[in-house]
Amino acid sequence: MKLGLFACAAVAGACAFAAAPATEKKIDDLLKRMTLEEKVGQLVQIGSGDFASGDVEKGPLDSRVANAVARGEAGLLISCCGIRKYNQLQKLAVEESRLGIPIMLGHDVIHGCRTVAPIPLGLSCAWDEELWRGLAETLAAEARTRGIDWTFAPMLDVSRDARWGRIAECAGQDPFLASRYAVAMVRGFQGDNPADGRHVAACLKHYVGYGACEGGRDYNTVELSDDTLRNVYLPPFEAGVRAGALSVMPAFHVMNGVPCSANPYLLRDTLRGRFGFEGLTVSDWGSIGELVPPRHGVYANLADAAAGALAAGMDVDMMSDAYRKHLAGKVKIGVVGAAALDEAVRHVLRVKFALGLFEHPYADEKLLGKLDLEKHAEQMRVAARKSVVLLKNEKRVLPLKKGARVVLMGELGDNPTEMLGTWQTWNVPGENATLLAGLKADGVDVVYAPCYTVTGAVDAAAVVAAATNADVVVATFGELCGPNVSMNGENTSRADVGLPGEQDKVVRALRAAGKPFVAVLFNGRPLAIPELAEACDALVEAWNPGSSGGWGVADVMTGVAEPTGRLTVDFPHKTGECPLYYNRLQTGRPWVEGNMWTTRYIDAPSPGKSLFPFGFGLAYVSFGYANEKVSVEGDKVVFTADVTNLGGRAGEEVVQVYVRDVVACVSRPRRELKGWRRLELAGGETKTARIEVPVSALGFWHAGRRVPGEGEFRAWIAPDSDRGRELSFTIGGNGK
Ligand code: GLC
Repeated sequence: MKLGLFACAAVAGACAFAAAPATEKKIDDLLKRMTLEEKVGQLVQIGSGDFASGDVEKGPLDSRVANAVARGEAGLLISCCGIRKYNQLQKLAVEESRLGIPIMLGHDVIHGCRTVAPIPLGLSCAWDEELWRGLAETLAAEARTRGIDWTFAPMLDVSRDARWGRIAECAGQDPFLASRYAVAMVRGFQGDNPADGRHVAACLKHYVGYGACEGGRDYNTVELSDDTLRNVYLPPFEAGVRAGALSVMPAFHVMNGVPCSANPYLLRDTLRGRFGFEGLTVSDWGSIGELVPPRHGVYANLADAAAGALAAGMDVDMMSDAYRKHLAGKVKIGVVGAAALDEAVRHVLRVKFALGLFEHPYADEKLLGKLDLEKHAEQMRVAARKSVVLLKNEKRVLPLKKGARVVLMGELGDNPTEMLGTWQTWNVPGENATLLAGLKADGVDVVYAPCYTVTGAVDAAAVVAAATNADVVVATFGELCGPNVSMNGENTSRADVGLPGEQDKVVRALRAAGKPFVAVLFNGRPLAIPELAEACDALVEAWNPGSSGGWGVADVMTGVAEPTGRLTVDFPHKTGECPLYYNRLQTGRPWVEGNMWTTRYIDAPSPGKSLFPFGFGLAYVSFGYANEKVSVEGDKVVFTADVTNLGGRAGEEVVQVYVRDVVACVSRPRRELKGWRRLELAGGETKTARIEVPVSALGFWHAGRRVPGEGEFRAWIAPDSDRGRELSFTIGGNGK
């Protein structure tokens, strides 16, 4: 990140955001001139327009919003009012408010804007940092065409529970991979200079531990030991802060009884103290208002909640009105210190300077015309290809043979609004590529037989009849996530993560039909699908693949592109196994086949075997591993392995490194991902994968202390979290 308007506080080789001294002086000067009410105004975020209206560009400015901005009572806006209205509101802020402090407009550009990438859970399966960064950069530019200069992304919640609907929005269950995702997305959204009019402020959310909500039920209670908080849930946020993120959004839930929205341990001690964060914190929607009865009930009334949240380190109040109504009063009576208020305002002004809003407050209304939307669509197509995970491919039914008569079945095979997934955006549904469109574009002789829907009754005879003339059946399965029904995303937790509706009947009908059948999943969470996985000949996990999704998925199914995705979450056999994750502890009785006194379910396969494990994914070729080696070389551990493409066509392997600390002061996970390398291999080609892991990465947190990794370790250089030849190495002692 260039110095420009702010310096990089180069920390541990990263570059956390820090305002340059010259900027700090400008802020000092502004603070001296601001009234109490103007300071409070900089901490208030209100809606930017009529949320109900369809086309926000049309119609007049919302007068309530316009007046608040002109009077300096709302320094931040949320939701998109369109670029024209953004500039009109900005003009009021800059030319009519007393000090001319510009506004900032935030919105959820999570994985799409005018064009749409696969949902983040799908993107995470690409294991590709450059892809993630490039997509964020494209989405930032598209966001700026809407006047949005701040996105509420990346979502960094580690999630181990398929019941939680927001698992769709996250980068899976592994802290290390989610941390690499965090860095890539922050750098993509913000670029080297967020003030260039084509980048936006990133916002790390939901701080922290949201994915651990009890029962996988959204908004529910979170109880985490400090060790688990530090070792599993905080790392992606620390990585994002050290990559320069300009904002952080605390989550709705309580963390061990204290709401994240007013939690000094999380907001001050950890985020500011340990991570050195200097940007702004913004509450999640209305969450300061949720601190009072009959909700969390940690403050008696909204005025006390306003005072408590600010004191705890919450800078901006998104949509609860607590700060707007009560903060000035609390300052006047000395409950909220003037210094605490100034500190929060400083954080906000730093971000506005970082975005260049004082120098260039207006959005470029011609920017959309300058963007190459064709190129963006192609980028989303590549992202869709890389997010696909091939989970099964028997009888080599994939790639589809040229000339094969294909019958495509199911509602999800040709529904453009079901391609996008959670967080719908401003794309044009009619432009979205469905799987039918993709198969046709790739020259497949395909007939579409809708046959059944996700939630409707299934006529098994109709399914069998439709299959009759097919050489291959491509049957779509999954969840709805369109404008009408959402089965994943915010507040869509499911108590049963099997196939919704009567889709299982389709599985049985196709098994009876006896035709080769490819199942394609369009979903936003790991599904418990043992029957489907067993009955189909090939299983393609397509997630919600985005606006170019149908093309990308078809490219993989026809062999135009190779399947290169690898799972970043475990798939359960049954819902009751959730939460299910590969990096679990061994326990004192790790499961052993046939030994009833080891951890297990009597009505589900062993807990040691997921339906599909973290890291798993097939290619159209297989890969051989040989000469796996590990050596400790100073402050790093070097892993090498020779990987061979055993097939006759090109392929790409994701070589993964896992370690286990055999003996430590606390029990450590059976495996932990510590690195990966993508290897492109021509048919028959062998390459050596080399992955270096800093010794410091073998450490862990316990009782508030960073414990260095030492002693005996096991390791695996492997294709997924279940396989690989076991290696050993030692840190410290004579193992140096
Ligand atoms: C929502 C979500 C959060 C989002 C915010 C603003 O409730 O929890 O992810 O950024 O409100 O839309």
